[in-house]
Amino acid sequence: MRLSRDELKSLMKNKLMAAGLHEDDADTTAEILTWSDERGYHSHGSVRVEYYSERIAKGGITVDPKMTWKQTGPCSGMLDGDNGIGYVVAKRGMEHAIELAKENGVAIVGMRRLSHSGSIGYYTEMAAEEGLAAISMCQSDPMAVPVGGTEPYYGTNPISFAAPSADGRTVVFDMATTVQAWGKILDKRSRGESIPDTWAVDEKGVPVTDPNKVNALLPIAGAKGYGLMMMVDIFSGILTGVPFGGHVSSMYHDLSKGRDLGQLHIVVDPDRFCGKDAFLKAVSQSLDELHDIPTAPGYDQVYYPGERANIRKDKAYAQGGIEIVDDIVKYLKSDDIHYNRYDHKNRFAE
Ligand code: NAI
Repeated sequence: MRLSRDELKSLMKNKLMAAGLHEDDADTTAEILTWSDERGYHSHGSVRVEYYSERIAKGGITVDPKMTWKQTGPCSGMLDGDNGIGYVVAKRGMEHAIELAKENGVAIVGMRRLSHSGSIGYYTEMAAEEGLAAISMCQSDPMAVPVGGTEPYYGTNPISFAAPSADGRTVVFDMATTVQAWGKILDKRSRGESIPDTWAVDEKGVPVTDPNKVNALLPIAGAKGYGLMMMVDIFSGILTGVPFGGHVSSMYHDLSKGRDLGQLHIVVDPDRFCGKDAFLKAVSQSLDELHDIPTAPGYDQVYYPGERANIRKDKAYAQGGIEIVDDIVKYLKSDDIHYNRYDHKNRFAE
């Protein structure tokens, strides 16, 4: 079913408010979830609202968080999110990082004790829109097997980079360090579709195509993805002083408790390096040169990271709205807060 941006956002906002979030926090959360859905990142859009609503209703997301910000140096600071909704904490952290980077050239902001913050490209794009380059990374709960292991230790630990250009195009590279984000498995489940056998393994470590049989995800590019997800955990978790690796709390276990996750934003003002104009022009030039590269069979064009997401967004609105799975729309339009589906001992959602 296709929904307009306003309709989708207000349905999500109302549901989050019914679950207990205050209006401004529900608005921020619904805005970032809409950002994901309209770009085709359905794994991190409206599909998540029922889970957040259950966690909010059960007390595992603080609805009146006492966030504390401490600037720890000219270019650094820590934001304690008091286990408030992750979207609001991560956005606040990026606002601090942008301010510090504008003042002092570079900013590294750690966030501790936040809940899930969704598509982290949203936060790096915030900095790029201010003419700054940015990196963000965060923890998620153990669901990927390390190379050579049979049990999950690290999460899908995403990392995003963004850079502005001279002509309004923004590069937003935003990826899970597993072959696929866990939300993609959820999305495939909700659509009743199978998955490629390169995404995940069952309990014996054997690749599976049925999304319901997934026991662990695979890191991207073998040992390289495994190393990357480990460093994301060290920089966003160990550095911010929260539980790390296999100790990261489960998304789907005991929804009455805060998740205590960590995230890190790094923001750089290009003016302190090669100069803002030179940086913006060179990024634009590289995007043009990438577009000029002749295409391989089966490809219509070389795209830069984030470009296809913007094309999906434009296409969705040209076709009358954002395509959302009927069951999700039904839930969003219902009077129910949640169906008690996510709180169980299994680290994976039913
Ligand atoms: P993806 O695989 O859809 O895309 C990864 C990146 O590759 C994107 O930047 C995309 O623009 C780029 N890309 C893809 N195809 C391309 C092409 N043909 N040419 C140029 N660039 C291309 O993303 P993934 O890994 O499935 O992650 C989806 C979302 O899930 C992200 O927004 C991520 O932040 C979020 N996530 C959040 C987590 C959390 O705990 N908060 C955990 C894991 C993922």
